[in-house]
Amino acid sequence: MIVESSLTETRRHVRSARRAGRVVGFVPTMGALHPGHVSLIEAARRDCDFVVASIFVNPTQFGPQEDFSRYPRMLEADLKMCRDAGADLVLTPDVSAMYPESAQTIVRVTKLAQVLEGAHRPGHFDGVSTVVTKLFNIAEPNRAYFGQKDYQQQLLIRQMTADLDLPIEIVTCPTLREADGLAMSSRNRYLSTIERGRATHIFQALQLASQFAAESNRTPPEIAQEMRDYLNSVGGIDVQYAVIADRATLEPLTERASSAVALIAAKVGTTRLIDNQILQFR
Ligand code: PAJ
Repeated sequence: MIVESSLTETRRHVRSARRAGRVVGFVPTMGALHPGHVSLIEAARRDCDFVVASIFVNPTQFGPQEDFSRYPRMLEADLKMCRDAGADLVLTPDVSAMYPESAQTIVRVTKLAQVLEGAHRPGHFDGVSTVVTKLFNIAEPNRAYFGQKDYQQQLLIRQMTADLDLPIEIVTCPTLREADGLAMSSRNRYLSTIERGRATHIFQALQLASQFAAESNRTPPEIAQEMRDYLNSVGGIDVQYAVIADRATLEPLTERASSAVALIAAKVGTTRLIDNQILQFR
């Protein structure tokens, strides 16, 4: 496995793989890898001939009061997980190489970036779309892999890839969960034992929504209210949003529809967690 911090060297490796007719798969990450990340690398390994992962804690997608400086960094353990999952090259760029002081350009998705996560984290998605565009231009993949865990993010990347005519297929992979249902996340390691116990109720609220969609006649706003009531009854969970939205536009649904996703963001202590689940109405 090649470990490369240079952008031009990475491009050189990828171009020579592509010249040899190999299909290139790409998995961008911020490190602190867990089995969810590993599942993306494994999916790329199955589908592609040359697998590139990146580890870059992207400063531009963190707000001024967010956890950029304390975001977990553990490069050696991450590289081992990449190697075990079958990555061929891991790009580990420096902030100064990705964002020279002379840089002046941002990539902005409009509508999709303004709701839900975008409304609660101003500027977050500008940072995501800009860094992913840059990483796509460096790694020049045929396919790129994202987790359903960050549902809005994968929609945004799909939109951006289509809008900018990027010749890249976006693949969305299922959310990996702990045994009690909590979605795996690099941020779970911030949780105390008590908070870890509370966090599982985010998954429980999504399960409740699935059940109400499949087995009752409740409307989406009623189901969303059930999720909020459930989470508020637990205590120690600060719900930022709990909504039932259209799967493609993320606009809140007022009527039962064939396509829906339940999305939750909540703070447990100081840790902000997100999760989601696709709903089937009966
Ligand atoms: P990060 O949070 O490290 O996540 C990297 C990828 O792993 C994302 O596509 C995310 O959706 C996926 N992922 C995270 N937890 C998962 C889980 N439990 N199951 C399956 N997939 C999971 O998302 C980012 O980094 C950044 O915004 C990035 C795209 C790298 C741009 O900086």
